[in-house]
Amino acid sequence: MTVARMMHVLPVEAYTSQEWFDREQAQIFSKLWRFAGFSEDISEPGQYLSVQAGLNNIFIVMGRDRRLRAFHNICRHRGTQLLRAVGKTQKAITCPYHDWTYDLEGRLVSVPEEAEEFTGLNKNCLGLKPASVDLWRGMLFVHPEPDPGSIMEWFGKVEPHLGPHKVEELVEYPQAATSHDIKANWKIVVENYIDVYHLSHLHSGTLAMYDHARAKYGFVGPHYAFWEPLAEFYARDVEKNAPMPLVLPKDQLGASVPMLFPGLGLGESETSWSTFHVIPLAPDLTRVETRTRVKNASDWEFSTQEWRSGAFWGKHISGKYAVEELGEAEDPMTSGDFMAEDVYACEQQQKSLKSPYFEVGASAEQGESPVRQHQQIVLDFLEGRR
Ligand code: FES
Ligand SMILES: [Fe+2]
Repeated sequence: MTVARMMHVLPVEAYTSQEWFDREQAQIFSKLWRFAGFSEDISEPGQYLSVQAGLNNIFIVMGRDRRLRAFHNICRHRGTQLLRAVGKTQKAITCPYHDWTYDLEGRLVSVPEEAEEFTGLNKNCLGLKPASVDLWRGMLFVHPEPDPGSIMEWFGKVEPHLGPHKVEELVEYPQAATSHDIKANWKIVVENYIDVYHLSHLHSGTLAMYDHARAKYGFVGPHYAFWEPLAEFYARDVEKNAPMPLVLPKDQLGASVPMLFPGLGLGESETSWSTFHVIPLAPDLTRVETRTRVKNASDWEFSTQEWRSGAFWGKHISGKYAVEELGEAEDPMTSGDFMAEDVYACEQQQKSLKSPYFEVGASAEQGESPVRQHQQIVLDFLEGRR
């Protein structure tokens, strides 16, 4: 009997070639809303942050009127990038090169030696080029166009499929923030995030507290939604065994793990809410930055909960392989850390892609259907169908 084999949609070059990478940068990452941070990152006039959004570098700054504005981070003189990373300026933004100066609302206010060197210059036409900033679920997003429409046009349809978390009521736990440079293409990282098939295999020791067999998942437009309930053994006594204070009411427990296009994963669980931001750096290099919010509770409440649940986690969390089995203490496969397991799997997969012997043998009908759908969405963007 022959069975039709499900196969991948994208060719292997999509994961290895600079040309594919450049097309994705131009046609996907330079044209869509890009996650820029949490709303509290900019809370007073003069505070700013800049992000690379595909080919565009965009900064957000709070004006003296406390409004957030976004601009292309390009001096209108000869283009020098104005601001670096995150910071606070006083009343103005001055280019380091020839000191052209803009106010917080983007107007060009002073040009050194203007009378001698730039007769008849109309400064009104040389304000910073506006981009857009919007806020959604406590997150800042930027868009390169000045008038891209509301962010709800982009996320509105997927929102009902996300977790019921009241994100703004949770607080960031800064020590939990991470940044990993993964030696793999960004789509490998995203595909790993939305691969349902791997959950009970790669993560057999680390994610057993969720019931993967009862997961519900699928795409809403270009965005992926995923939800799964707690495993029975964990749900039974969850108030005692949760590692941190619960952030959801008892009748809404479970994990929503969406992947918003292109490359913003959320991890919305019974105890925390986090962002998993996938930033392509090169065809075979991807940065993943995570930030986590937890319940706004006292240190005492956190340590009590950790103490009460310690024995449970000691029993139910383990590496995929035992240390004795692998003979190495410092190995992602013995670490008991699901993120380390994912990074390892992504990098090991990328290593094979340039071999002439590499081919995809088959793709799971259900559990890998999101992988194929994501590939189709990428292709649709590159070929102008979306
Ligand atoms: S490039 Fe900015 S002042 Fe000259
Ligand atoms: Fe995973």
